[in-house]
Amino acid sequence: MKGAPYYEIRMQQFKQKLHRDLPETTVWGFEGSYPGPTIEVNKNELIKVKWMNDLPKKHLLPIDTTVHGAGPNTPRVRTVIHLHGSVVRPESDGYPDAWFTKDYKEVGPDFTRKVYDYPNQQRPTTLWYHAHAIGITRLNVYAGLAGPYIIHDPLEKYLNLPSGSYERLLLIQDRSFNDDGSLYYPIGPEPPVPGVCPSVIPDFFGDNILVNGKVWPYLEVEPRKYRFRIINGSNSRFYRMSISSGQPFYQIGIDGGLLERPVVTKEILLAPAERADVIIDFSKFKGQNIVITNDAPSPFPRGNPVDESTEGQIMQFKVSLPLSGYDSSVIPYSLSTIMPLQEKDVRLIRDLTLVREEDQYGRAFLLLDGKRWDDPITIKPKLGSIEVWTLINLANSTHPIHIHLVNFQILDRQPFDVDYYKETGRILTTGPAVLPELNERGWKDTVRANPGEITRIIMRFLPYAGLYPWHCHILEHEDHEMMLPYEIVY
Ligand code: C2O
Ligand code: CU
Ligand code: CU
Repeated sequence: MKGAPYYEIRMQQFKQKLHRDLPETTVWGFEGSYPGPTIEVNKNELIKVKWMNDLPKKHLLPIDTTVHGAGPNTPRVRTVIHLHGSVVRPESDGYPDAWFTKDYKEVGPDFTRKVYDYPNQQRPTTLWYHAHAIGITRLNVYAGLAGPYIIHDPLEKYLNLPSGSYERLLLIQDRSFNDDGSLYYPIGPEPPVPGVCPSVIPDFFGDNILVNGKVWPYLEVEPRKYRFRIINGSNSRFYRMSISSGQPFYQIGIDGGLLERPVVTKEILLAPAERADVIIDFSKFKGQNIVITNDAPSPFPRGNPVDESTEGQIMQFKVSLPLSGYDSSVIPYSLSTIMPLQEKDVRLIRDLTLVREEDQYGRAFLLLDGKRWDDPITIKPKLGSIEVWTLINLANSTHPIHIHLVNFQILDRQPFDVDYYKETGRILTTGPAVLPELNERGWKDTVRANPGEITRIIMRFLPYAGLYPWHCHILEHEDHEMMLPYEIVY
């Protein structure tokens, strides 16, 4: 297409003030901004983006060269950008082995092009772009390489949702800092792994919560309705959010766009990479300070409880601005139509385990389907076909499983006997199948697979053939082999 908007977006290192009491922090970002600038497009509007690596030679964070794809012979500062949730051709998807260094001097084995096409012919929603280079995604994202991307629907104005300055984006991430303000990321687990330093860690939980690159910020709001597009852009941390005033969220959307109807809920759980589109009504709270709190244990769900004075708080709303005009926005009864995919149309069911094992250094790590990234590809859905993937979680925490290219629907979750499965390879269910939560009944690109449960998802593999990854979105897991390619074939 001629005349499609074309952007060059540079990844750079710079200093940024993340909190008034913190010295400046050296971060990575895009065009001088961490998080990267919000890219906003309309549905069906093709844009072209040249992601450019303008980063220094030295990485900000400790690289473990024993991790797949990050070996001592690979350049340290490699990046490739993936637009999470996007429907794009494989060459524009940011394949983990399609990385490149500064000025494309060195490129990964699957690098094919510099300029990516984003056709945006999909359900309008909140996406986010982030670094995805094999073996160092956790470090590149932690350094700051992530930003929001919104596909707007021009027709959405008829819904009369809060918009303009009453529509805000909240990208939530956790970070730890050294006293000098620099980012802290552990050099390895405690106790250390003999013979490996730096070493990948099983998960990362920072003790500061940042929203849009600010530590525990506040936002001044008017006593009226606001729409917030919330992204969990953290490495490992889940957030179970509530509003301190006791009022509910009116959740209108999820990963893949609007729900059929708003869901009124006092609690929203977001695993890494999940999104929630919500309306909060401040009209009865004039003059008050309201906090979005978090009580998700880490790791989720059986890990440490939050420290209420730190990770327990996300941000504050000060309902201090005067109402600038009558709030004519509404919370519509009906938002969109979601056509359920039918089980009778399923061509193939795949049983896929999530299992904890030990790598050659004795470190626990997690595998999908018992396989590693470089193993032969066994998942080859036919273009246009519908499949059900049965995610069998044999491990002891929740893993947010993300599939590139496709959106899926969650069929159900069902508890099963983990030990029996490990002995026999057979599923013995121990309770009824449970439908997804009300706020999961729409299009998803990331699903929480809980321990001791099988989670069934259904999807149609469209519209492109080729190689795409699927993986756990806990970035420490993704980097340590909890990621596999799959190939859509004709
Ligand atoms: Cu959000 Cu494979 O990524
Ligand atoms: Cu993705
Ligand atoms: Cu995981």
